[in-house]
Amino acid sequence: MLPPILQNLRIPVVAAPMFIVSGPELVIAQCKAGIVGSFPALNAREKDGEAPVLDTWLTRIAEELDRHNQANPDRPAAPFAVNQIVHRSNARLDRDIEICHRHKVPIWITSLGARPEVNAAAHDCGGIALHDIINNVFARKAIEKGADGLIAVAAGAGGHAGPQSPFALVQEIRDWFDGPLLLSGAIATGGAVLAAQAMGADLAYIGSPFIATAEANAPQDYKQMICDSGAMDIVTSSLFTGVSGNYLAPSIRKAGLDPDNLDSAGAESMSFAEGSSKAKAWSQIWGSGQGIGAVRDIQPAAARIDRLAREYAAAKARIAQL
Ligand SMILES: Cc1cc2nc3c(=O)[nH]c(=O)nc-3n(C[C@H](O)[C@H](O)[C@H](O)COP(=O)(O)O)c2cc1C
Repeated sequence: MLPPILQNLRIPVVAAPMFIVSGPELVIAQCKAGIVGSFPALNAREKDGEAPVLDTWLTRIAEELDRHNQANPDRPAAPFAVNQIVHRSNARLDRDIEICHRHKVPIWITSLGARPEVNAAAHDCGGIALHDIINNVFARKAIEKGADGLIAVAAGAGGHAGPQSPFALVQEIRDWFDGPLLLSGAIATGGAVLAAQAMGADLAYIGSPFIATAEANAPQDYKQMICDSGAMDIVTSSLFTGVSGNYLAPSIRKAGLDPDNLDSAGAESMSFAEGSSKAKAWSQIWGSGQGIGAVRDIQPAAARIDRLAREYAAAKARIAQL
């Protein structure tokens, strides 16, 4: 049984948090269109001495969704989520936890480290905590440390993807865990959302297709490159962050590097002190998962979600006839 906060979505989809790309505009559009919207807390950045931008963003999101709900009681907005990077180099973590707790953030997504006190803070303000993992060992640890649910990040995902097939990952987790399970990695159509459920996941977790939306905070060239590329254009490398991640080969070529001959870098070089583990020198190297062959145009997020909903309904009807 899913926690109430994850029930009654228009389609079983949580939009994944993306560094730089996901901000209040995108989150508000996603929630209004009926799926969970999310952003990494580290995207809300202020200059030294300024008031925390995270505070302003959370107030804006709550107010705009509230206004939407009052005007549209028949189709209320979905809840939103905030992503916390639980890594020793994230010096803002305690402050960001305090702000999210004060704003009673309903869904907390934690990445990289499973820490009981982050889950406790989520629970204390009435929220739930979902932790992302790339294998069954990390999955068990996350639940032991108090996460309510898991996000299985399988092969082909954007960002720090895992190496495992979604079939293998979901089956191993479902062997012992019957709580909320989200699946991510190259899910870009309504049919793939239904496939994730058929495999045993409750919800799909979708990132890259939302880069090519009007509300995404990404350069136009990046959005267009998502539309023009497919799975063959995605390369996996540890060079840019110290951990294996998936990137658009054309952006690597544009930066003067050969995507087929990249050096690797060790995990010790990973640092979130600047908000991302990607050094500024690599800011033009653009991340993406393998599912973007399904994305042909830059659209408003609502149009992308309408299409997912139509495809999801069509896939259900198709399967019912088998
Ligand atoms: C450009 C980009 C930035 C990302 N940044 C983050 C991040 O800051 N925190 C995080 O937990 N995951 C991040 N991710 C991973 C996504 O949350 C999600 O796991 C992934 O996008 C799902 O795969 P898909 O892109 O194939 O849909 C990022 C992914 C992309 C493509």
